[in-house]
Amino acid sequence: MTDVFSSLATCDRETTRQIASVLHCRRQDPDQYRMLRRFLAAVDVTAGPLLEIGCGSGELLADLADRAPTTTVVGIDHSVDLLRMAGRSGGAAENIRLLAADAHRLPFAAESFPTVLMYTLLSHTPDIRSVLREAHRVCRRGGQLAVLDGDYASTDFSLGPHDPLNACVAAWRARYVVNTHDLRALPRLLEAAGFQLVRTGAHNYTATHSAYAYTIVDRGVDTMLGSGTIGEDLARSLKNEARRRADDEGFVGSITYRFALARRHPSPSAAGTASPRA
Ligand SMILES: C[S@@+](CC[C@H](N)C(=O)[O-])C[C@H]1O[C@@H](n2cnc3c(N)ncnc32)[C@H](O)[C@@H]1O
Repeated sequence: MTDVFSSLATCDRETTRQIASVLHCRRQDPDQYRMLRRFLAAVDVTAGPLLEIGCGSGELLADLADRAPTTTVVGIDHSVDLLRMAGRSGGAAENIRLLAADAHRLPFAAESFPTVLMYTLLSHTPDIRSVLREAHRVCRRGGQLAVLDGDYASTDFSLGPHDPLNACVAAWRARYVVNTHDLRALPRLLEAAGFQLVRTGAHNYTATHSAYAYTIVDRGVDTMLGSGTIGEDLARSLKNEARRRADDEGFVGSITYRFALARRHPSPSAAGTASPRA
């Protein structure tokens, strides 16, 4: 099954609308937003232009434009429909430029950007290495790359063994995340692309009552319903169970997110010393 995000360039309007609503929901989640702000605080956004690869409907772009009002912020995504939505919301800010492009083949000259960001892009691109090589090509010498992404193999919505909500999570992951484990090797992947690692870290996101966490259960349930694995009654019960847990147990689920800040080598001679390990 293909990752929905990796096929957004060609999918129908309804799927795009649903994805935009999930992305918006995620930004409204207080713990998710705290994590995003901490990520942004670690990035020097004063040197422009900034590039976000995989900007979607512009949830992060709006923050970038606010934090760097005098800097040009460029957002690229392969979904024209999501870019249109970005243009209608935060993308209306004067310093934002939006462009439809594939992360594997960026339409920019080498060394165009002092700062490149990716926020939950790599988990959805089948060829992480080629995306990172492209990011390296367009990043200026001495410039920075900042990555924040989900280690979605860690997603756990269980309160005990054989918990049916984890079956929903597994169905969600199979449909929405192509790279379930690769983010664990992010430091090595960055070095292999030619970057020097500056800092890495992880954040444990725990959902208590969270509309975003419900979208994970709901999308997993809808996937199982669509494939005929379960029927309408069980689908309804599983969705209700996630909401009940928020009220009664104070826990819906948790996901580890991984963060990395890296630099492109400042001198041409050092740039070819990518580690051969990954
Ligand atoms: C999980 S969303 C993240 C959106 C955004 N970063 C945000 O702040 O909400 C992943 C995004 O990556 C985009 N994407 C996936 N594969 C891509 C590719 N090969 N080239 C460009 N964009 C891609 C999707 O269209 C989607 O908008």
